[in-house]
Amino acid sequence: MQINELVIAENIEEQAWQALEKSILYYQGRPVGTLAAYDPSVEALNYDQCFIRDFVSSALIFLLKGKPEIVRNFLEETLKLQPKERALDAYKPGRGLIPASFKVVSINGEEYLEADFGEHAIARVTPVDSCLWWILLLRAYVVSTKDYSLADRPEFQTGIRLIMEICLANRFDMYPTLLVPDGACMIDRRLGIYGHPLEIQVLFYAALRAARELLICDGNQDVFAAIDNRLPLLCAHIRQHYWIDINRLNAIYRFKSEEYGKGAVNLFNIYVDSIPYYELDKWLPRKGGYLAGNVGPSQLDTRFFSLGNLMAIISDLATEEQSQAIMTLIEERWEDLVGDMPMKICFPALEHEEYRIVTGCDPKNIPWSYHNAGSWPVLMWMLAAAAVKTHKTGLVRKAIEIAQTRLVEDEWPEYYDGKKGRLIGKQARKYQTWSIAGFLLAKELIANPSSLKLVSFDELSPEAVSRACEFEISSVDPYLSH
Ligand code: GLC
Repeated sequence: MQINELVIAENIEEQAWQALEKSILYYQGRPVGTLAAYDPSVEALNYDQCFIRDFVSSALIFLLKGKPEIVRNFLEETLKLQPKERALDAYKPGRGLIPASFKVVSINGEEYLEADFGEHAIARVTPVDSCLWWILLLRAYVVSTKDYSLADRPEFQTGIRLIMEICLANRFDMYPTLLVPDGACMIDRRLGIYGHPLEIQVLFYAALRAARELLICDGNQDVFAAIDNRLPLLCAHIRQHYWIDINRLNAIYRFKSEEYGKGAVNLFNIYVDSIPYYELDKWLPRKGGYLAGNVGPSQLDTRFFSLGNLMAIISDLATEEQSQAIMTLIEERWEDLVGDMPMKICFPALEHEEYRIVTGCDPKNIPWSYHNAGSWPVLMWMLAAAAVKTHKTGLVRKAIEIAQTRLVEDEWPEYYDGKKGRLIGKQARKYQTWSIAGFLLAKELIANPSSLKLVSFDELSPEAVSRACEFEISSVDPYLSH
């Protein structure tokens, strides 16, 4: 890099830090989180709250820059918001949940924290991902500070245990994945991701791994047994049934349907006509592949969702081969997935009748906007982390450099619209905190690859996974058995 480019880059980072510091939320004099956005030009709605999922990006950069205090305060305060008793009223949050967001309210001069578990949120969506991100952040805090004593404290052990109980509870469905309603994660509006969306499954997997590390042995044998039982099955299920590449597409293309019983190859009874073969045939590179957005009864959502795919690489849920293939796909389909602003939340957009039916005519989610294939700068850090993990940082470094000038000029928008991400999001906030933190974090990950350890995991015992595969795979599946 030239000297003047270096000065510009440093200046941008400094501006980003100043903006990030402005967003810090104080409670009883202590920093406890960051606001979703600090944009005085538009009505705040709930963007003046601290969202759990949004704060993760800020928290990771604070940890990496030697500022763990705000993260510890956040973990302590949000833990207090977690319901510890069974809800007697069905409209109240269940035991173990972590809220979507919280804010500081002042009553008679005294400050309180008020949580939102979705009961105030638009469409009353439930934040399933919050409790999963919370465990991941606690683990990142422990890895970064080596302060095991925080996680060992009885109230933290109870908190983790309650989250495990809600995730591993007896339930109706028959898959190792988690069944959730639409809008239960970053995409918190209706977008046809109810059922078993990839994002939740990947976070679930990573949270199980983190909980396994953080829970102490005493009195947790039942939870350990449940986690050890679930992890390999979940891992094998995702690796097999969500995977799409040209070989797999060929196998699905020739699937028979209405198969009954143990010998079924088309386990989920996917109807061949529901898959956009001709687009995928053109779009899939020879070597690339990715994890599908959702798998369920007669359902294979072939949209590419970035958070799920990138976190699958980072958390080691995808195999080494699959991780490389996902990065190859991103490289080969750069214009579609990254364009001018890393990176698209999903691809392609739902259009026409499909848009109307699946989103319920949501004007915020028109094609190539917001959740419906808009570009979200926060995803930049996950792209950087996945690139570090797969040793492919070159391209990503360049993309971040290209994006950074625009981000500053455009005042850190929440998201961009358009097929290449060149339009500032129609209803995007400015000074969106996770856009700022996501950029800083991406820079830090590329500059110091060892930072990856805060969010990554080692390989899960291969024996356990292959045992799970044997259990799962039908021996007659022509694709999976070779
Ligand atoms: C939007 C996003 C959600 C985010 C929130 C606050 O609702 O969809 O993921 O947490 O804004 O930034």
